[in-house]
Amino acid sequence: TCRCAKALQLTLAVIKPDAVAHPLILEALHQKILENKFIIVKSKDIIWRRADSERFYAEHKGRFFYQRLVEFMSSGPMRAYVLAREEAISQWRELMGPTKVFRARYVAPGTIRAQFGLTDTRNTTHGSDSEESAQKEISFFFPEFCVAEWMERAEPAF
Ligand code: TYD
Ligand code: MG
Repeated sequence: TCRCAKALQLTLAVIKPDAVAHPLILEALHQKILENKFIIVKSKDIIWRRADSERFYAEHKGRFFYQRLVEFMSSGPMRAYVLAREEAISQWRELMGPTKVFRARYVAPGTIRAQFGLTDTRNTTHGSDSEESAQKEISFFFPEFCVAEWMERAEPAF
């Protein structure tokens, strides 16, 4: 590949039920994705059963917020995206801001969670935190999607 080609990365971004419930917020977040030069590789709207929620957040089982989180994430429709960009994982997480909404408002007021988050649990968006979790989470939401194959096909075009 060309020396100047930038490495593309994929991430999973999710607009959580609190934001999907509000059409203007959903639209604002969709625009934010486009404005920030992400390519929308796939997207879909989905409603989780409680069991999906428990499985996705299994790493947090036992934490004080786990039941609340699992309940919330299966409380209504969500919008999931596979996004591509250079540094997609860190760029999306930077746009989201810190996990806890009240901290986000204090230290990163322009971020999504600061602007739209309701509580530490109803915090508007999810983003993968590493390449490994991006792989896992993309196949959780889009089991038919093959990351390796997409990368192989897409890379020369960038
Ligand atoms: P975590 O993976 O720590 O945060 P992030 O979403 O930024 O990767 O936690 C997963 C979700 O759990 C988080 O988005 C919201 C919920 N949560 C709470 O409700 N309270 C908390 O104190 C924490 C840390 C997380
Ligand atoms: Mg996390």
